[in-house]
This record gives sequence, C-alpha cells and structure tokens, in this order.
Amino acid sequence: MITDTLRQQHKEILDMLDRPEMAAELIHFVESVHHPLEEQELFPFLDKQKCLAAGGPKCSFFMGIRLELDPLGGMKKSLQNFFAKTSFRPEPYPTLPWLTPQSPLSLPFEEHAVGADLAQSLLFLLKPENKELHTQFFAGIYKDYCRLLKMHVDKEDNCLFIIYEQAMRTTR
Ligand SMILES: [Fe+2]
Repeated sequence: MITDTLRQQHKEILDMLDRPEMAAELIHFVESVHHPLEEQELFPFLDKQKCLAAGGPKCSFFMGIRLELDPLGGMKKSLQNFFAKTSFRPEPYPTLPWLTPQSPLSLPFEEHAVGADLAQSLLFLLKPENKELHTQFFAGIYKDYCRLLKMHVDKEDNCLFIIYEQAMRTTR
C-alpha cells in the first residue's frame, strides 16, 4: 500500500526535524520526494473515493483547529514580513487542477503550499551571501517549517491515511 511507504517517509522526516544542520536534506526529501508522491499517488485516488466526504476519524478535530486556531495564519504573516524586508519571492506552488476548495484534501494541500514557501525561504537563507539575513530570519522560519511538518504528519498518519486504508479494504 502506498501509505506504508508514506508512513515510513514520515518517520524519516520526523527523525530529521529540529536538527537545523540537516535542513537542506530535510527540505529536499519533503519537497522533492514526499509531497510530490502524495500529490501524484494519494490525493487523486482519495479524491475519487465517496468515503472522503464522510471524513476520517479526526477530520472534524482538524477542521476545528483550522477554524479556531488558524495555525498557518501566523506562519503566513511571518513569511509576508520576511518578503517585505528582503528581495526574496518564492516560486508559486503549482495547483492541482482537479482540487476544489471544498475538498477535505485542500487542508493537507494548503500545508504543502505554505511548507514550500517556508522551504524556499530557508534555502535562500542558507546561501553564503545571505549570512546577515540568515542571522535575522532563519531560526524563526525553520521553527515554523518544523511545526508545520509535525502537524502535517500527525494529520495524515491519524486521519488521511486511515481513510485511504479503509477505502482499500472495502474495494478489495
Ligand atoms: Fe505526508
């Protein structure tokens, strides 16, 4: 099952978190290996499943957190502050043409998009010529990136992947 691979990748991601010396390796794995795999293999399959509308075991919990605490809001504000003070602008995150804002998948997808902005900002700050900006901004953005990935892994391991695994069991 694809979720076996993705759960294993989550373990590898968690092992690299909160270790700033591994930031470039973490970013490469998340942004070039893990998130593309989810978007190419997992999300399109789930989008076609009727059970997605019914949600997973913790869908209402995660929706509630998004509505009441808006955990990505503070990260987006910090990024805007960083962009306002520097010349850096991230590449726009490619959209998935079939994904609607009403789909529960828009939640993890928004995390991929904000995560990509954070990741690109960190790679910019890792360049030797940006040493001064690194001192000012790296720690805050890195902390947000790790926090976002922890939330994301928890949401997928305990909800999204379970919807997939249940769907696979019923279609066998
Ligand atoms: Fe994931």
